[in-house]
Amino acid sequence: MILIDGKKAAAELRDKLKHEVTGLKAKYNKVPGLTVILIGDLTPSQIYVRNKEKSANEVGLKSEVIKYPDSVEEKTVLEKIEELNKDETVSGILVQLPLPKHIDKQKVIETILPSKDVDGFHPINVGNLSSGYESSVPCTPLGCYLLIKKVEPNLNGKKAVIVGRSNLNGKPMSQLLLKENCTVTVTHSKTKDLKAECLEADIIVAAVGIPELVKGDWVKKDTIVIDVGINKTDKGIVGDVDFDEVSKNAKALTPVPGGVGPMTIACLLKNTIECFKRSQI
Ligand code: GUN
Repeated sequence: MILIDGKKAAAELRDKLKHEVTGLKAKYNKVPGLTVILIGDLTPSQIYVRNKEKSANEVGLKSEVIKYPDSVEEKTVLEKIEELNKDETVSGILVQLPLPKHIDKQKVIETILPSKDVDGFHPINVGNLSSGYESSVPCTPLGCYLLIKKVEPNLNGKKAVIVGRSNLNGKPMSQLLLKENCTVTVTHSKTKDLKAECLEADIIVAAVGIPELVKGDWVKKDTIVIDVGINKTDKGIVGDVDFDEVSKNAKALTPVPGGVGPMTIACLLKNTIECFKRSQI
């Protein structure tokens, strides 16, 4: 079984991006900038944002974090986004989710200029991705896609089963794999026989938030299994895949942690650089 090393893949991608930033700096005399807005004091969000900032600095991006208390008014956040939209030194804007209840998530997402939407959450980018046009692609599915391609560069005609239909992961993942000529099934909580669907798959992407849902006997030999889950349980952090069981069957599997997670952040840096490059044309 191939243990897909997301940490190593992310380090390689960051290295590539670092070289690219050096080249961009020489060409344009400026570097791409990423601004992250963090609202409230949720610990996981703080950790993610700290890691994003650290990685952005590592590859040579200009990085800024703007913090607001939980009680901040929606208007203040929207005005700040408008200001960042106009700021030429800001290539990418990310508002860390989840947001406090009194702030309308969709309004926030739609206020970010699509050309600076490094999350790929703006409806314009969602539409462009599903139409096969150039767009920002959400970082987690993009990271999954790059890991799958490392194991299997030619995905023509492969059967892919995605467990979970979220806007963040499942739906954009299905678009990326369709573009690669996979036959894609998107499963969800109302799917009749999830095990039977998974048993058909050459590729499984589990992004559903249920600890160890995908079992060893759901996976045929030669299947590539990507685990997006990060679930806190009594025995620590586990994914959506039963690692011990599935590792006995699968062709390749991502661990949790150390699989998809590191790639997500590296892809955010990649998206920021892409936004910068498009803005220079
Ligand atoms: N919170 C958890 N994952 C994400 C992500 O990919 N983007 C943003 N903006 N917030 C998140």
